Amino acid sequence: MGRVAGKKAFITGGAQGLGACFARMLAQEGAQVAVTDVNVAGAEKTAAEINARHPGAACAFAHDVTKKADWESALEGAAKAMGGISVLVNNAGVGGWGNIESDSFENWRRTFDIDVDSIFTGTQLAIPYLKASQPASIINISSVAGLIAHGQMLAYNAAKAAVWMMSKSIALHCAAAGYDIRCNSVHPVFTRTPIIDPLIAMGGGGAEGEAKLVRQIPMKRLAEPEDVGYAVLYLASDESRFVTAAEFKIDGGITAQ
Ligand SMILES: NC(=O)c1ccc[n+]([C@@H]2O[C@H](COP(=O)([O-])OP(=O)(O)OC[C@H]3O[C@@H](n4cnc5c(N)ncnc54)[C@H](O)[C@@H]3O)[C@@H](O)[C@H]2O)c1
Repeated sequence: MGRVAGKKAFITGGAQGLGACFARMLAQEGAQVAVTDVNVAGAEKTAAEINARHPGAACAFAHDVTKKADWESALEGAAKAMGGISVLVNNAGVGGWGNIESDSFENWRRTFDIDVDSIFTGTQLAIPYLKASQPASIINISSVAGLIAHGQMLAYNAAKAAVWMMSKSIALHCAAAGYDIRCNSVHPVFTRTPIIDPLIAMGGGGAEGEAKLVRQIPMKRLAEPEDVGYAVLYLASDESRFVTAAEFKIDGGITAQ
């Protein structure tokens, strides 16, 4: 039996990077997965690759997480395709660069729109589906940037810290309401996906740019998407049935310094 056999997972931002990796790993361990992204061609590609290995395991939906109507149609379509939704992975997100003097209010708002407000809207709309498929799990992808700050990451620091605390509040509400719906946050350090390309470029590009990031990490390497995927797999499975309101740091030790 797979570790998440019978689970029905809805994953945002699944066209590439971490979301695509989570979808592949969950399907590999027996889950059905709904892959959604504003990049619908990318989401369909991820789903097709999964279906080639696990026929019928994946479906894909066009979904801009900043749009309530997209949430409604993607959740409805996914629940119909999978026979319910028992795992919600709020993964879609954007980075951001700017300090309190240089950043624009437009960038601040856009970061919050995509990284934070989407989780409010989407989780609120998903709860009825999760209630119908208990035990259920909400997994919010925050970042080490939600726990430790950088002078040039004003909006991203604030957004990911909001995701961290929102996750605890959602978890406590669900527990108090008597729902078997857990909610936890995951905090990766720099992980090898396209989102860190601008950071590598700012550090001089290529091996030099990557080395500048790696120097900050006690374990002296970038995270691979699978390193984060194993946390998501655990949190999606019933192995984590008594774990809620917790934060999972996948960070090679960086936040301990
Ligand atoms: N890679 C890292 O170093 C790292 C570290 C910590 C946290 N994270 C977080 O992990 C999550 C995934 O990032 P990634 O590294 O895979 O980045 P990525 O850029 O490779 O993928 C992000 C995905 O989100 C999608 N997306 C962006 N805006 C969207 C929207 N409005 N609606 C729907 N989809 C949208 C993109 O199309 C893309 O497929 C993000 O929340 C990010 O903040 C990443």
